[in-house]
Amino acid sequence: MNHAPIHVTRTFLPPREEYLHWLDKAYSSHVLTNNGPIHRELEETLRARFDVPHLRLMANGTLALQLAIRALGITGKVITTPFSYVATTSAILWEGCTPVFVDIDPKTCCIDPNLIEAAITPDTSAILATHVYGIPCDVEAIDAIAKKHGLKVIYDAAHAFDVEYKGKSILAWGDASTLSFHATKLFHTVEGGAVVLHDEEADKRLQLLRSFGHIADEHFTLGINAKLSEVHAAMGMAVLPHVARLIESRRNVAKRYDQLLNGRYARPMLPTGALSNEAYYPILLPDGASRKRVMDHLSVNGIYTRRYFYPALNKLPYVSSPAMPRAEWAADVVLALPTYFELEPEDVERIARKILEVG
Ligand SMILES: Cc1ncc(COP(=O)(O)O)c(C=O)c1O
Repeated sequence: MNHAPIHVTRTFLPPREEYLHWLDKAYSSHVLTNNGPIHRELEETLRARFDVPHLRLMANGTLALQLAIRALGITGKVITTPFSYVATTSAILWEGCTPVFVDIDPKTCCIDPNLIEAAITPDTSAILATHVYGIPCDVEAIDAIAKKHGLKVIYDAAHAFDVEYKGKSILAWGDASTLSFHATKLFHTVEGGAVVLHDEEADKRLQLLRSFGHIADEHFTLGINAKLSEVHAAMGMAVLPHVARLIESRRNVAKRYDQLLNGRYARPMLPTGALSNEAYYPILLPDGASRKRVMDHLSVNGIYTRRYFYPALNKLPYVSSPAMPRAEWAADVVLALPTYFELEPEDVERIARKILEVG
């Protein structure tokens, strides 16, 4: 029997008429960008949803990271995780800072706070950590270290839309959090992102940085164009009402994988007190050879998984770093399995069956 190919994710498209409803508003206002009414509405809706003091939309999650670094005045060395998407590291380098990698906790795959203090030097100014797969970092330990050493903290929360920790949005932690609203993410605006800040002055700087550094004829700082258009914000407003059921459907997929794989493979663990958004379903195979065997077997059967993330970022050709054995291990053995809205139960069953045939 021939099956349609299954990819690791599938972009959610809201009903056409719902997107058109928002596009019609852009047609009526005749404003397509520059902080238009839909942009303002999405910005305020998300700020209130997460109950954070400041949230600014950005053109993408990479610029969100870069401008968060800049708005907080971070320079010199930035302690960061080697297990994330490349943008976490590239943003540090692009802003003229130096990434200093600290290995991960193999249980959560997030940065290990027990290793951070040994990496701090007089020119360390910040920690940039990722809530990888939406699994919260050990925010309490990181907060204590940052306070003790006077460091800023940025969380790359690209995967953490609607993730909660101890009953509050995970975005409540750190000096800044950044989000990605890329089409592959749980909530999306096609391309897009956001920066959450807790300090009003930093938020004012961020708004200038996002918009060329000037207001009318007055130029205050070097800026860039990181604005999100009305057309993108319109997609966000159309997707937003569906997010709860997008999470619910992924939760059902995760439960089914859990039943079918029956604890056979380790998985990055959620800390106590965290509420997952189920955005990803990564498994950790026993070793690189079995990861490859499973991935290849799925692929010949039209099921496309992803090594999310590979390589460990300390191995990028443009950084220099000592080995990070745990991150390199995770990059070698991890496989993100397909999960998305409307992934059919029989597809989940077929995927699990194919894994168990060779895994
Ligand atoms: C952890 C992480 N950080 C940053 C980004 C960059 O976001 P964007 O693609 O919106 O630039 C991504 C995107 O995939 C990501 O997964």
